[in-house]
Amino acid sequence: MVSDSIFKSEEVLSAEYLPDILPHRENQIKQLADNLLPASKGRRPQNTFVFGAPGIGKTAVSKYAFREFEDYSGIKTIYMNCWDYNTSLSILTKIVSDFGMFVQRRGWAKDEVISRLTEALEKSKKSLLICLDEVDQLLYKDQKVLYDLLRLNQYVKNPIGVIFISNNPHVFANLEPRIMSSLSLDEIEFRPYTLQEMKNILQERVDYGFYSVEEGVVALASAHAINKNGDVRVGLECLMKAGRLAEKENSDGVKVVHVKKVLKTVGEIKPEILKENVTDVEKIIVDIVNNKKNNLTFDELYKIYEETVESPITKRMFRDYVNHLDSVNLLKIGKRKFGKSRFVLKV
Ligand SMILES: Nc1ncnc2c1ncn2[C@@H]1O[C@H](COP(=O)(O)OP(=O)(O)OP(=O)(O)O)[C@@H](O)[C@H]1O
Ligand SMILES: [Mg+2]
Repeated sequence: MVSDSIFKSEEVLSAEYLPDILPHRENQIKQLADNLLPASKGRRPQNTFVFGAPGIGKTAVSKYAFREFEDYSGIKTIYMNCWDYNTSLSILTKIVSDFGMFVQRRGWAKDEVISRLTEALEKSKKSLLICLDEVDQLLYKDQKVLYDLLRLNQYVKNPIGVIFISNNPHVFANLEPRIMSSLSLDEIEFRPYTLQEMKNILQERVDYGFYSVEEGVVALASAHAINKNGDVRVGLECLMKAGRLAEKENSDGVKVVHVKKVLKTVGEIKPEILKENVTDVEKIIVDIVNNKKNNLTFDELYKIYEETVESPITKRMFRDYVNHLDSVNLLKIGKRKFGKSRFVLKV
């Protein structure tokens, strides 16, 4: 028989759950809220770029700020993950339909969508806030959406505010300077949590998720998460799996032994997913780095890449891909202690 005395709420321990409090992100929430605030007074919201390592609350904080802001101001917010919305047309269509406008099943041409949207925004006399999460997916594929959003902003009185999110601080590096300056982005960097912060965050989830937890459970799950690049999802998965095991064993609570037993099965989550989805160029880069015994300087790596493929991309674009791979932990960029060369290392 499976015990039902372990989970108060499984949902609270899942990575998709958006908690009511996000400990240790108060400053970032405040900064984001300050940037959105002008929209509630009919003024231009501050576009913002949120960046940092995987699993440290970027999406959670942005969704949280949107939820609170919409409740407070009545201004519409739309969240999109660019894995799902990665063309200009799909993004604009999503905005139109979230705005409550009818969209033909077979879809419209982009100009049609833009003109409907302009009309609707003008009529509503309110701003619109959108969040483009994992924006890398969009910038690799279809940068036009940025032109389209800026174009929209020229036509309407209350402009659209955008939050962009990425793991990669350099994701906009190849964007035209003119577009970049029109976006005039404020940046919010998310730094990894310390061990103590991770403990506090997981403790909060545990308090709402489990009935009874032995001392040491949260500490062990937290230490594991910190070891696996500081991703909170790793900690949550440890706890969830430990809870399920405790349930199966008919235990009267979650114990340290349960966590110990599941630790091996919980690894870095995000990079594994990404391995499936990285671009072809990135796969080649990872292969080159992993097949070399010695560390390569950036220039050496580019040279090998150039010799490997038929039509190589420019060095500047290549650098972006390498930075992206570093940010998702598929390789590491190291620096020589004295001197300027940057080494690209396998992980
Ligand atoms: N301060 C916090 N308090 C409570 N839960 C948190 C906190 N920070 C992160 N989490 C939880 O950790 C999980 C991962 O967070 P989130 O999805 O926001 O990461 P991310 O920074 O967007 O990562 P990625 O770059 O991989 O998308 C979520 O379940 C989120 O609720
Ligand atoms: Mg995220």
